[in-house]
Amino acid sequence: MQCSWKSMVLLALASIAIQYTAIRTFSTKPLSLLCSVGLAPTSQAVNCSLKDLTRLGQETLEGSDRGCDEVLSHTPSPPSFSLPSYNANKRTHILILATTRSGSSFVGQLFNQHPEVFYLFEPLYHVQLALLPRLAQSRNLAERRVMLGAARDLLRSLYHCHLSSLESYIRPRPANHSTDKLFRRGASRSLCTPPVCETPLGREEQSLVLADEGECVRRCGPLNVSLAIDACRAKRHAAIKTVRIPQISDLRALIEDPRLNLKVIQLVRDPRGILASRIETFRDTYRLWRLWRATGRRPHNLDLGQINTVCEDFLRSVSTGLARPAWLRGRYMLLRYEDLARFPLQKARELYSFLGLVLDHSVEDWIINNTRGSSDLTSRQKFTTVRDSAANAENWRVKLSFDMVVYTQTACQPLLELLGYKTVFHPRELRNLSHSLVEDRTFLPFL
Ligand SMILES: *[C@@H]1O[C@H](CO)[C@@H](O)[C@H](O)[C@H]1NC(C)=O
Ligand SMILES: *[C@@H]1O[C@H](CO)[C@@H](O)[C@H](O)[C@H]1NC(C)=O
Ligand SMILES: *[C@@H]1O[C@H](CO)[C@@H](O)[C@H](O)[C@H]1NC(C)=O
Ligand SMILES: *[C@@H]1O[C@H](CO)[C@@H](O)[C@H](O)[C@H]1NC(C)=O
Ligand SMILES: *[C@@H]1O[C@H](CO)[C@@H](O)[C@H](O)[C@H]1NC(C)=O
Repeated sequence: MQCSWKSMVLLALASIAIQYTAIRTFSTKPLSLLCSVGLAPTSQAVNCSLKDLTRLGQETLEGSDRGCDEVLSHTPSPPSFSLPSYNANKRTHILILATTRSGSSFVGQLFNQHPEVFYLFEPLYHVQLALLPRLAQSRNLAERRVMLGAARDLLRSLYHCHLSSLESYIRPRPANHSTDKLFRRGASRSLCTPPVCETPLGREEQSLVLADEGECVRRCGPLNVSLAIDACRAKRHAAIKTVRIPQISDLRALIEDPRLNLKVIQLVRDPRGILASRIETFRDTYRLWRLWRATGRRPHNLDLGQINTVCEDFLRSVSTGLARPAWLRGRYMLLRYEDLARFPLQKARELYSFLGLVLDHSVEDWIINNTRGSSDLTSRQKFTTVRDSAANAENWRVKLSFDMVVYTQTACQPLLELLGYKTVFHPRELRNLSHSLVEDRTFLPFL
């Protein structure tokens, strides 16, 4: 992309103006300007994210929704290691920085299941839909800036429980602070349990609602945003999962904000695993890759950009994180999905320890229930977190052709080395699952 400095300055100014207007005032003018780019809900980007994110089922928990008083009066015991400034009463804000098909739903559950955490699943979906409907993977700098500026402002508001900021992005615009259009509302326990979900539900019905996102939406009716705000305030901590922030440096302004106390968990996964999973999930976008797999010949118009973007964003973020800049001290932890899949309980403990939070038994129970392979998976549970996580992390090795693996690892070589993923040189090596492709590495947060 060629840009003269003049156009860059103009774009930067425009981006600042748009962010400002879009967020601070709810004037519809600049929004409608952007929205004229097309709000069609059938755009590929939307389809992509919907497919990716649909049908996250979750195993039921016994109704463990405790009253706010109980939650607030509960004093946690000290964590195994802590920051110098650790304060048990300080509200901690958690961001799971991920990309699609990297296991972020799974990591999200580690917080969603915690009774003291208010969890939101991908609220930035609405920002993208409102501002840049067709530009999910936009590599245009100016467009990315607009999106990111708005995303940062919204994240800050959401952590402070100003959920009404989200309303201005939801289409159709919620009336009377009530909406049935919140993306993946059912993925958030807090939004499916009392007091937000007011329908008088018995214990059994409550389990059903928590087991099935659709059930939550059907039974709980439109989301009352005012009640959601109350629920958010009643929880001690807040966690947000997103696949819509490309790099850790995009979050610097938030991380440096001392009032926010933001801690970022960057989730990474072997790009070969991400590719295999996306090919299964985003069937239209990754059509040519499927063609390659089926025919054994690489289509000449294959878009390598899709996987390159993942590797570039990971590489930049991880390099930044591992360089230990002062602004990330105590605020950044790198997590390989493969490690979580192999040692879920241990990794969950490390995560909570880094965050300075107490790992609740309900999280441990959820992990135990959801990481042992279950033989009676119904097809509806195919895309859920309920599966043998360890086997799942590795199954790209039988799903991609050797050529595709070589192609991908060539494109992503520096990243593979940095993260400790081994390159394969022979199909026999690829398919021999007793030969691990994940080097033992420890990525401890620096405190
Ligand atoms: C997804 O795309 C298909 C065509 O590719 C279209 O028929 C369908 O309505 C879209 N779904 C959504 C939710 O956008
Ligand atoms: C919003 O609330 C007002 C007053 O309670 C009511 O008159 C109006 O019909 C409501 N609007 C919608 C769209 O429900
Ligand atoms: C949302 O809940 C509040 C508090 O209970 C209530 O006053 C308000 O009427 C509710 N809004 C709607 C649209 O039901
Ligand atoms: C774990 O599974 C058992 C048996 O299916 C169930 O009773 C329990 O509620 C589950 N716990 C969690 C936290 O999912
Ligand atoms: C598979 O890998 C293991 C461990 O590296 C090795 O001992 C074994 O010989 C390999 N099997 C084959 C068939 O290559």
